Amino acid sequence: MKKNIALITALLIATGICTVNAAEIHPQRQAELLYLLKHDCGSCHGMRLEGGLGPALTAKRLAPYGIEFLALTIVQGRPGTPMPPWRPFITDPEAYWLAGQLKQGVNQ
Ligand code: HEC
Repeated sequence: MKKNIALITALLIATGICTVNAAEIHPQRQAELLYLLKHDCGSCHGMRLEGGLGPALTAKRLAPYGIEFLALTIVQGRPGTPMPPWRPFITDPEAYWLAGQLKQGVNQ
């Protein structure tokens, strides 16, 4: 599993997602993404993101994961699990921004 994370991160670096600048996300879109996080992601991860059908998305729990890995999980989902791909609704830079918010702790 550790190896997979390193591989995925390397692939993301190769595809350029890591160069994304969160400042490019318009504040209004940031508010929309945080709303989505609470209401849509929250339906599985818990309203306070402390876990439900999906695991908790608190800063503490996500500490071992890189932002790139989390962003990839958001856009591609986890095939074979209930975690759906959000690519139709969330762009790569937006997923990267959202992953950064989760790493910082959205509820703290
Ligand atoms: C239908 C339920 C469902 C919804 C909705 C959902 N998730 Fe998930 N999510 C899951 C499950 C289940 C997992 C665990 C997958 C696994 O077993 O690897 C997961 C895993 C994750 C992970 C990786 C966490 C880890 O510990 O590996 C992240 C990050 C994540 N989801 C973010 C989101 C975000 C952001 C949204 C909203 C845009 C969202 N999820 C919406 C079910 C959901």
